[in-house]
Amino acid sequence: MVDIAARFGSFVAMYDPKPDIVKHAHVNSLAEYRRLYRLSIDDPVAFWRRQADLLTWFHPPQTIVDRDYDAVDFSWYSGGRLNACFNCVDRHVADKGEKTAIIWAADEAGEYRHITYRELKHEVCRLANVLIAHGVKSGDRVCIYLPMVPELAYAMLACARIGAIHSVVFAGFSADSLRDRIIDAGCKVLLTANEGVRGGKKIPLKATADAAVEGLSIIESVLVVKRTAAEVPMRAGRDHWLADEMRRHRATCPVEWMSPESPLFILYTSGSTGKPKGVLHTTGGYLVYAALTHKLVFDVHDDDVYFCAADVGWVTGHSYIVYGPLANGTTTVMFESTPLYPDPGRYWRVIDDIGATIFYTAPTALRAVLREGDDWVTRHSRKSLRILGSVGEPINPEVWTWYHDVVGDGRCAVVDTWWQTETGGILIAPLPGATPCKPGSATLPFFGVEPILVDEEGKELHGNGVSGNLCLRASWPGQARTIFGDHERFRETYFTRFPGLYFTGDGCRRDEDGYYWITGRVDDVINVAGHRLGTAEIESALVAHDAVAEAAVVGYPHDLKGTGIFAYVIVKPDAEREDPAQIAGALKEHVRHVIGAIATPDRVLVVPGLPKTRSGKIMRRILRKIAAGEFEELGDISTLADPAVVERVVAARQAMR
Ligand code: PRX
Repeated sequence: MVDIAARFGSFVAMYDPKPDIVKHAHVNSLAEYRRLYRLSIDDPVAFWRRQADLLTWFHPPQTIVDRDYDAVDFSWYSGGRLNACFNCVDRHVADKGEKTAIIWAADEAGEYRHITYRELKHEVCRLANVLIAHGVKSGDRVCIYLPMVPELAYAMLACARIGAIHSVVFAGFSADSLRDRIIDAGCKVLLTANEGVRGGKKIPLKATADAAVEGLSIIESVLVVKRTAAEVPMRAGRDHWLADEMRRHRATCPVEWMSPESPLFILYTSGSTGKPKGVLHTTGGYLVYAALTHKLVFDVHDDDVYFCAADVGWVTGHSYIVYGPLANGTTTVMFESTPLYPDPGRYWRVIDDIGATIFYTAPTALRAVLREGDDWVTRHSRKSLRILGSVGEPINPEVWTWYHDVVGDGRCAVVDTWWQTETGGILIAPLPGATPCKPGSATLPFFGVEPILVDEEGKELHGNGVSGNLCLRASWPGQARTIFGDHERFRETYFTRFPGLYFTGDGCRRDEDGYYWITGRVDDVINVAGHRLGTAEIESALVAHDAVAEAAVVGYPHDLKGTGIFAYVIVKPDAEREDPAQIAGALKEHVRHVIGAIATPDRVLVVPGLPKTRSGKIMRRILRKIAAGEFEELGDISTLADPAVVERVVAARQAMR
């Protein structure tokens, strides 16, 4: 477990809530938060019945929640019928048809496209009709491998409209990663673009998609967005330009009324073992939860311009660019570029250009702009801003304070939001009008959420001032229901280690005031620059290389990324004579090719052996310390099969430049 004091110093400053910048009246004090929280825990049925009113139902729900922890079977709002697309689009057209639904901020600075709710409905309907024409029916899976262009949101909503299940794959993933995900989900249609554009660079998405589906007969159609002028090979009968197809179809399309437990989407995420798993979210509970958390955590109102800088390829984009904001009828932003393009002032320029009132990003992006100097921030006005959010990894108190003082001019509320792909929405976060903040703490649980800390034996740690494994009791509507095609893996991964609880994989401390401090993953998952990766995935990519006999990957502290990727490799005898620097370079390139750029190791160290127990298990604890340069604190190494190997690994690490 990470020692909070060591990690965060003795940072105890309390920041009061900001009632003056908050507009909601119903959660405007800590006492009111506590009253509502108590209610949500004591009588979840009454609480969540009321929240269902956030959505428009074709049939109202009958049973609010039905859960069976033994069978790992959760059902919310059963008996009702609804459609996620109708809730995000159609129902807003009557009174907000001319309101901007999506502001697309293109990679080129200063280039924006405003899409109204009425236009959104037309585009989504056309795309839904295209999917139907290509044989997509309710329950079919559609893979979306697109950059941050409006068609990405249209495609998700079009799937939801006709009851198809989307599986969005982040456009930075490799052909192999895309192929694995297409096969696992059994997708029949793939959407991609000729090229993506990011940070001034072109990304050859169609070429990657072609490699991914080569020889794959399950993909019947590939629909291609023309983002740039680039010509790409189009295979007759399989590949179609999406715009041409959409032009041929009507701008109306009936919605399928779905059961609340019908699958809405699959999103792949990394775990401790094996290949990424397809986390499955369903319709009713997910949408209620995304909408409510979005509204309360970001204090969203009708006149807000809400800017989440994440990529829709991750869960943050699903819940807090597309589904939550659009369900609430908010103006949401799709940002195609990077925080540093064309210069480190890009975020703040966009905020001024479009009058953004709420901004949500990851600490890694903040660290990247922070180090370029405050001037990049202060030369932009940012006067429209009210709320600043953070997500994806622990935010260092120094960065939190900079976000609050410099970006927010000490005037805006900062909300550090803890959650996961599996949780569907935010579980621990302050409410800006109610919760006093401590920099570095995600503060207090959202309504209906019961965090439980347990020790290694599964004993619950009661009271405050305790640290342990973070679990959750009961169920909340946004909870994932299964891993696509493998319910047993779902059960085993999250519900067996601590029976009766959902285990998050995170370590956490509850301080003297009952505030939660996430200390990071306690399993073999690492959060690298806000992206979640399994060390096992990177290891299997490495050992697939001819030169590698064995590999062990760990995370280590990285100034910019939060956690960097450190790979230890033992090379095969043939490669022993080769230059280690050259091997390291080749292996980095290899991992990038196999998984994608986000998984590229920062450091690759060729070692003569790895510290293992007598039963052959790699001692990652020791490798983490060595990677971090903490050579003095290796702990007990007497149980190793060959303790001398540690010295050799340390020597290799010390020799590293
Ligand atoms: O370790 C936690 C970290 O990100 C993990 C979830 O990653 P992912 O499923 O990709 O979802 C990221 C976006 C919700 C968690 O297990 N994490 C997420 N938010 C925070 C965080 N760690 C600390 N503080 C946070 N606010």
